[in-house]
Amino acid sequence: MSANVDYSYLRQLVYEQSQNVLDPSRDYLFETRLSRLLRNNGLTHMEELIQLLKLKHNPTLARAVAEAMTINETSFFRDGRPFELLRTELLPTLIESRRNTRSLRFWSAACSTGQEGYSLAMLMLEHFPTLAGWNVKIEGTDISAEVVHRCQTGSYHRIEMNRGLPARHIVRFFDHHGEDWTVKPEVKNMCNFRQANLCVEPLPFSPSSTRFDIVFLRNVMLYFSQETRKKLLANVHKLLTPDGLLFLGSSEQPADPSLWTPTLAGGTCYYRPRKPS
Ligand SMILES: C[S@@+](CC[C@H](N)C(=O)[O-])C[C@H]1O[C@@H](n2cnc3c(N)ncnc32)[C@H](O)[C@@H]1O
Repeated sequence: MSANVDYSYLRQLVYEQSQNVLDPSRDYLFETRLSRLLRNNGLTHMEELIQLLKLKHNPTLARAVAEAMTINETSFFRDGRPFELLRTELLPTLIESRRNTRSLRFWSAACSTGQEGYSLAMLMLEHFPTLAGWNVKIEGTDISAEVVHRCQTGSYHRIEMNRGLPARHIVRFFDHHGEDWTVKPEVKNMCNFRQANLCVEPLPFSPSSTRFDIVFLRNVMLYFSQETRKKLLANVHKLLTPDGLLFLGSSEQPADPSLWTPTLAGGTCYYRPRKPS
């Protein structure tokens, strides 16, 4: 780390772009995370990048800095309990209540490289054959163009496959090419991935045209300020069906509890939207 680098400028820029709050104790991460971006822009030192950002209005470069600083940690069936609860209790009830419309919509908000969305698709294909012929869609969004591209390819390295995927899923739902495995079309076709910032209004979906039955908003709010969390959850609340379900990460809670009814079950917690009073 260099004493000449204006890390507070970089932190502020990341906040403006993605609302991610970075702690000064982790300034050292800029060096490693931005090294590729420096190289790609023909730069050697962090000071040069900061100068460039300060001198010229360059939204693409500013966005690239923020995207490079996101934490994209994820895995298939991450923290398996929400998936297990969906399988045993929540999905059977939801499917029964949707038997007239034959339609289900999921949102993996902050989907990273797509394992969360594809896990939901595999869960339904494996355990709910009655959904064949239904309109089931899993939307995945993330601020990072790079991870959204990975989602769209649906290809995973051996190391990613070894994290959380039962062998039977690998055999049934993936095609194998060298060191990579690609999700089969029956899984891919259930999912739709695109880039979107959760903290910029309007959100990529509008309550007048899209309501979700289940939203996974996991392991992203921990990077946001309390105010940002509150605004985001108020917007997510509007996008859920009245009997919809919200899953947060295991260390996350709703910023405004008055909007949500929590239920503890199966070693996890999920939230139903309350009618605003
Ligand atoms: C730790 S991953 C969580 C992935 C997945 N939800 C899970 O729990 O495994 C956090 C993701 O949030 C994304 N992210 C961070 N800030 C965001 C924002 N403002 N809007 C949308 N996505 C954001 C990051 O790019 C990253 O892929």
